[in-house]
Amino acid sequence: MFIESPRYTERFGSVRMSHVQRVISLDSGAKRRPHSRGTTGVKQIDEETIRHFEGRMAIVVPTRDEKLRLLEGVVSGVPHDCLVIVVSNSQRKKVDRFRIEGDVLAQLCRFTLRQALIVHQKDPAIAKAAMEADYDDLLDEHGLVRDGKGEAMITGLLAAKAAGKEYVGFIDADNYFPGSVLEYVRNYAAGFSLAQSPYSMVRILWRYKPKISAGLYFRKWGRISEITNKYLNNLISTKTGFETEVVTTANAGEHALSMQLAEVLPFASGYAVESQELVSLFESFGGILPTEESRAIEQGIDILQIETRNPHLHEERGNQHLNEILLSSMSTIYHSPLCDKEVKQAIMVELINQGILKDGEAPSTVHINAPLNKVKVHKFVNAIRRDIDRYRVSH
Ligand code: GDD
Ligand code: MG
Repeated sequence: MFIESPRYTERFGSVRMSHVQRVISLDSGAKRRPHSRGTTGVKQIDEETIRHFEGRMAIVVPTRDEKLRLLEGVVSGVPHDCLVIVVSNSQRKKVDRFRIEGDVLAQLCRFTLRQALIVHQKDPAIAKAAMEADYDDLLDEHGLVRDGKGEAMITGLLAAKAAGKEYVGFIDADNYFPGSVLEYVRNYAAGFSLAQSPYSMVRILWRYKPKISAGLYFRKWGRISEITNKYLNNLISTKTGFETEVVTTANAGEHALSMQLAEVLPFASGYAVESQELVSLFESFGGILPTEESRAIEQGIDILQIETRNPHLHEERGNQHLNEILLSSMSTIYHSPLCDKEVKQAIMVELINQGILKDGEAPSTVHINAPLNKVKVHKFVNAIRRDIDRYRVSH
């Protein structure tokens, strides 16, 4: 593919965050081209490089009672050499949707001669593995893995580690366009190929998120992301003393991490997970608060933001759902030790204006799951490995 070269990178302590890079063209042909031939500012990422990263990557698809056609479409868009890991929290009573998801996945794998894993978030074996690993954070009052997208991501990360993968990407299951899924994963691969550090993250910015009103309208920013980006940038600006607009992917559901970075990051519960990742990176590696992770500090953390060519179309879930996402992501900023009084005040005013909080209310804290390197992760991984055939869907 052809992608804009990283034009400008901002540094906060050990964190290097690149301004958004646009995909110029989805394919760049079979030949490797010399950079000097009129392509200044544009980089070619050849197929071999993309395949190199795809083969080392797992794609985790969190799903909770999504339409089967959508789930199947999403999996059909994942490049063949990636390991697909579906982490489901779908209902099992009355209709066992999890079982049907497994059947759909098995059929696709049979037709396409590929392997995949599927695991239910509430599988008692996963909860038992969490207990063995002293990972109590992950468990709810019933002793099972908590509900939430963040918890699905952690489950997927551990399965990816058990399968020996070095990179993990996340793709929501409610995406209408398999072609966009293919692009997201190729963009992950391109991003990792440009990163200098083994501690790296690639976050996707959708080019458009179409809405159907009078006709089809290609909106660029969603309400939530616009607001979360603004306050995350404020948080950084108040610490550095220089205003910035570098963050454009605060809520990027579609994003990928190197396993090395994933292991040192805490993951918030539910939909707060994506914004908390950035908040935690600035807290732990931004050079303001102390950190224990000397290896990551030495190597630096690369965060790449890539704007797609494809638009993003997914299920509409209404205002209440969007408010819930906005509140939980703003809460991650509000409760950060980096957040000063002025930013806190501005966040409260914003949430009151949005009709999400009442006067005098502050956002409550969100649950944060400890980083994997703070628990006995090898025990967790060994337990998954022992059971891996049960999770495997193979041709
Ligand atoms: N396994 C599992 N467990 N999956 C879940 C759970 C859960 O408890 N809750 C939600 N999911 C799945 C959904 O089925 C979907 O595939 C994906 O997680 C995202 O959930 P949505 O409900 O579709 O979220 P959204 O589209 O409103 O928000 C998405 O985009 C935001 C950015 O615009 C999410 O990815 C957000 O995290 C993100 O901030
Ligand atoms: Mg969605």
